[in-house]
Amino acid sequence: MEHNKRTRVVAAGRPHEPNSPVNPPVNFTSTYVYRPSVDYPQVYAREGIPSFTPLEELLAELEGGRHGLVFSSGLSAISAVVQQLPLGAHLIIPRHAYMGYYSMVQQMAAKGLLTVHRADIAETDEVLAQLRDVAQVASAEQTEALLWIESPTNPMLEVADVPALLAEANRLGVRTAVDNTFATPLRQNPLAWGADVVVHSVTKFLSGHSDVIMGAAITSDEQLFTALHAHRNLHGTIPGPMEVFLALRGVRTLAVRLDAAERNAGVLAARLHQRVDDDVDPTLVSVTYPGLPTHPQHERAAEQLGGFGAIITVDTGSLEAADAVLENLRVWTPATSLGGVESLVERRRRHPGEPDSVPEGMLRLSVGIEDVEDLYRDFTQALDATATVTR
Ligand SMILES: Cc1ncc(COP(=O)(O)O)c(C=O)c1O
Repeated sequence: MEHNKRTRVVAAGRPHEPNSPVNPPVNFTSTYVYRPSVDYPQVYAREGIPSFTPLEELLAELEGGRHGLVFSSGLSAISAVVQQLPLGAHLIIPRHAYMGYYSMVQQMAAKGLLTVHRADIAETDEVLAQLRDVAQVASAEQTEALLWIESPTNPMLEVADVPALLAEANRLGVRTAVDNTFATPLRQNPLAWGADVVVHSVTKFLSGHSDVIMGAAITSDEQLFTALHAHRNLHGTIPGPMEVFLALRGVRTLAVRLDAAERNAGVLAARLHQRVDDDVDPTLVSVTYPGLPTHPQHERAAEQLGGFGAIITVDTGSLEAADAVLENLRVWTPATSLGGVESLVERRRRHPGEPDSVPEGMLRLSVGIEDVEDLYRDFTQALDATATVTR
């Protein structure tokens, strides 16, 4: 019987045998007893431990993939995928892909390991043309190409036509990967549209409590799974058992947390957008949220995503105004990261790696599950308190 994902997120990866614990045990061990007479696959914990399996099975099930692999961070999962490319390969990535990822591939490009092509991932025709050009160059150079999709992007919330891009990449023999961190497996399943692999920063919505750094890769491609597993072992990018326990415990409530955060985000985005229309705050210039009809890819988001997510951006017009808002918030926590139960806000351009096309005064809001009126009152009092800051 096929169960709803809201059920599977709670029920998958649990032992069912009589008298077994309802929650799988956590293995704190680095090594295993070895007797030459017994052939047992578990030798050393860097190869993976039984504590990983319930979470890996659960993530694979939620994404509709055959295999899941947990990693020490989202970036290490991403790195494992990118490092499958041969020397001199071509990589197409969104111009507003997660900044840490862009810095990673820039470093690789500087060493001559690969060539990076940046794409405006929401502009489908442009990306398709770029994809054809890059596929042709890669084929002439007898190397490979990888299309990397992040949708919605971090932090600009651009929404790609993921099925169309994946279909064309598959037709051209270009490899494909999707960072599904923002959408979560409850709102988007790119493997079903033909992606070779999906990656997650488990740190964010999946674990959901800002107490874990972890990543995951999910694929149905046996060869890729074997290669990623070998990579994780040889590069030592496994998570600790405690982190896996926390992530599994956190992910059980993903459906209710995401529903609540998304509901809050929808209310806040609409109200803040209305304040822009009514010109209430001198320090509120624009509000971006895929759920707003004014979002450039609103219809695409409505068609493609099972929900509009819990991330909003607001442009305050200047670095000074944005920083003043951060100083004045009391319920929202000014901090990097996202996807936790608590609402976080960050001015992304404080990171030197964030591109110039991200406005200096833009704040990224990760909406949590607190009372929406408290969130709204706190944010608007911070805007009021900064009204005197010049743009
Ligand atoms: C979309 C996205 N992918 C990947 C990462 C990296 O994940 P981690 O911090 O777990 O390494 C992040 C972190 O912010 C992210 O936002």
